Amino acid sequence: MHLFKITAAIILFTCLFSCKNESPTMLDMKSHEAFRPKYHFTPDSMWMNDPNGMVYYNGEYHLFYQYFPDSTVWGPMHWGHAVSKDMVTWDDLPIALYPDSLGLIFSGSAVIDWKNTSGFGVNGNPPMVAIFTHHNMDGERAKRLDFQTQSIAYSNDNGRTWTKYEQNPVIKNPGIKDFRDPKVIWHEATQKWVLVLAAKDRVKFYSSPDLKSWTYASDFGIENDARLWECPDIFPMKVAGSNTEKWVLITSMQSGAPNGGTGTSYWVGDFDGNTFTCNNAAASQKWLDSGKDNYAFVTWSDIPASDGRRLGLGWMSNWQYAQVVPSVKWRSAMTMARELSLHQVASDFILKSKPVDEFKKLEKNTKTIDAKASKEPIVIMENMTTAKLTLSFKKPSQGAVIVRFSDSQGNHTDVGYDVALQKYFIDRSHSGITDFSPEFKGKHLSSNPYMSTQLDVMIYLDHSSIELFAEDGACAMTDIYFSTESYSKAEIITSGDVVELLGGSVTELAK
Ligand code: FRU
Repeated sequence: MHLFKITAAIILFTCLFSCKNESPTMLDMKSHEAFRPKYHFTPDSMWMNDPNGMVYYNGEYHLFYQYFPDSTVWGPMHWGHAVSKDMVTWDDLPIALYPDSLGLIFSGSAVIDWKNTSGFGVNGNPPMVAIFTHHNMDGERAKRLDFQTQSIAYSNDNGRTWTKYEQNPVIKNPGIKDFRDPKVIWHEATQKWVLVLAAKDRVKFYSSPDLKSWTYASDFGIENDARLWECPDIFPMKVAGSNTEKWVLITSMQSGAPNGGTGTSYWVGDFDGNTFTCNNAAASQKWLDSGKDNYAFVTWSDIPASDGRRLGLGWMSNWQYAQVVPSVKWRSAMTMARELSLHQVASDFILKSKPVDEFKKLEKNTKTIDAKASKEPIVIMENMTTAKLTLSFKKPSQGAVIVRFSDSQGNHTDVGYDVALQKYFIDRSHSGITDFSPEFKGKHLSSNPYMSTQLDVMIYLDHSSIELFAEDGACAMTDIYFSTESYSKAEIITSGDVVELLGGSVTELAK
């Protein structure tokens, strides 16, 4: 995968270099803002992938991210930085971490060291500490196995400036080529820091009293897994409606996601500060989102107990085509910030997700949609390009219920429910520009079947993305699309029976 990323970067560099000063088209395209979402985070320009270092401090949500400031394809990684007071509107800040002699700055996390265990704090204020992977290019070129190590840096000014620890790395590589993406949490019960990182086909846990010296604790994985694991996260959650606490382990998988390519998965189990256990691990892996475009989803650290929510977001793309999507000035957006909740279903546990309530402040002009039964299309939205749709349907006895979003050229994306399969879907086969990758087009199905007799869906439309939340958030699907003219119309169509719309609303979202 990294070879692929690097080759793509070299090709683009060569092209940019040979086109330099010669191609007005290239210049025009550089200022091209088409596809820019209205309410999803994007870098102003250039390449972005995973969210990193997500931490809340002094009233600000920090979003660091994998960033290459010199190109719109992946390249030498930095940590870009933005802050927000509400996870809806973001202020761009200067790059936080630059590559150095130990390597590029790959994914990782950040915490507030409230007890100043690291000693990095000054004037009685706790330091913000970032824990990330150093990826050493010389080591990779020399085909060594130990070129990924874990390092730390600290900030005493709300994440604005950073000092790298002089004794980096803090975790050396034990001889595993893919050894990265540390996520650190404070483990209350054992009063120590716990770090989880991805190591090829599993995760590894470490612990530390001070964020500097780390002791290996355990591995968690499944037998004979051929997939590469990335970007783990671990956190405790109360099961909704009970006092039971379980631990959720998130792992992003670089292949084999429900609809192909990369996706975010999770396990629910127990964690004692050293070992994560869950019954029948192989059968317990679930997908956080079954659309194609939610990768490296991780959660914010240090959300105050008085808030109590578990909040996170993911990179809204897929490594299958992320580097060739047709946006020009910038590449990739993040998903909406989401709130997770944990629910028991029979003897199983599932995560539900929904956009954070803060997005309600964007809601303008709600139009109520009346109940209607029809075999003909029902137009529910016109002349609106960013919207939230809340709709309820009676499940038909056959065929599918479809909400079709379209532009005036006939490009469209269908969000629906297939009665025979009992699955939700997003079909972007005719969504607009799709020819940049053979993996992009297609109809994507939810990973689980759902048998409810009433279909309640919430759909968020932005200039190049659709996010579906159904079954009270048990089903989340995120797909991006690229239509040069934004979708501005939504209609309900049926592929069989009369569709019975029970009612709903369409709300414009505007900043
Ligand atoms: C996931 C990932 C991480 C790595 C980063 C490099 O998308 O491959 O494992 O740290 O991207 O940019």
